[in-house]
Amino acid sequence: MNVLGIETSCDETAVAVVADGGPPIIRANLVQSQSAEHAPYGGVVPEIAARSHLDHLQRLIGQALDAAGFGFDDLDGIAAASGPGLIGGLIVGTMAAKGIAWAAKKPFVAVNHLEAHALTARLTDEVAFPYLLLLVSGGHSQLLVCESIGTYRQLGTTLDDAAGEAFDKSAKLLGLAQPGGPAIEAAARSGDPRRFPLPRPMVGRGGCDFSFSGLKTAIRERVAAAPRDAQTVADLAAAVELAICNALVDRTARAAHRFRERHPDGTALVAAGGVAANARLRRRLAAIADDAGLRFVAPAPALCTDNGAMIAWAGIERLRLGLSDPLDVPVRPRWPLDPDAYTAKKPR
Ligand code: KG4
Ligand code: ZN
Repeated sequence: MNVLGIETSCDETAVAVVADGGPPIIRANLVQSQSAEHAPYGGVVPEIAARSHLDHLQRLIGQALDAAGFGFDDLDGIAAASGPGLIGGLIVGTMAAKGIAWAAKKPFVAVNHLEAHALTARLTDEVAFPYLLLLVSGGHSQLLVCESIGTYRQLGTTLDDAAGEAFDKSAKLLGLAQPGGPAIEAAARSGDPRRFPLPRPMVGRGGCDFSFSGLKTAIRERVAAAPRDAQTVADLAAAVELAICNALVDRTARAAHRFRERHPDGTALVAAGGVAANARLRRRLAAIADDAGLRFVAPAPALCTDNGAMIAWAGIERLRLGLSDPLDVPVRPRWPLDPDAYTAKKPR
């Protein structure tokens, strides 16, 4: 099965072709970041994002098909991220996918962007259900039990900001580039996290929820009181990275314990979403998984951040079960993975 995947839910225009039948193969995986276009505004501007997707998507689809050596006729389905995300971008990607599906008479799959992050470990490492997932991106911080395609149970979520947002806002306060996660990770390499001790939100509390807004306030205060030399910025970046990792790791350890009790057949702890590209976090999560007797799986960093391969793969997973969508299915700017779970925060 060969599937074209289109991702336009935020500020990356991404297109991939994934082939299945034996171990899955990523035949093409192109990502065009818009960060330079949003940089003057200090954050993603939805209108600019939608127009930029429109400018680049058609070319990227052509390039991805060329790289894979495929025409539309070689495809078995077209998948697009249809939510959650910014409505303008979702419409651009979803309408392009529907147009190709209609013209080429192929099935269309409306993919949940979060489900695509959740299933990436099955593309890269063939992880079996059930597994525990830490999904940490710019808009989401969730702990979920992934039971089967379409069945996800939320154990915890953020009460305010997402982990990626905490990285991005901290980077802004420190005068570092966006996206903030990679910028903080790079600056932190030469920093001492002990110079500016930060609070450890929710650590030791019951449940598996996250909270990052208190941390943001603490960082703002430290930044305002500190000098602005390069070493100080590095030390603050290291403190931020450590504090966010500590919060994520504490909650994930609790969730791993719960997961083990409820799912003795559980196979793995999986990390996904852009923040899961962070090397310090990956090391710490690997240790937790080890303690809990779980396999730790985190896709390569380029498959943790937004990409088209994860959308194509989610399309393959659904098509294999005979699931596709009609061409009049709407985009869904809000689309929780666990519809029964409370959402403390509006998704980005
Ligand atoms: O999954 P993603 O690419 O897009 C969303 O669906 O939101 O995640 C983007 C987020 C951003 O907040 C970015 O700062 C963060 O992931 N991120 C990182 C790293 N790479 C990306 N955070 C920490 N360390 C990284 N290396
Ligand atoms: Zn994402």
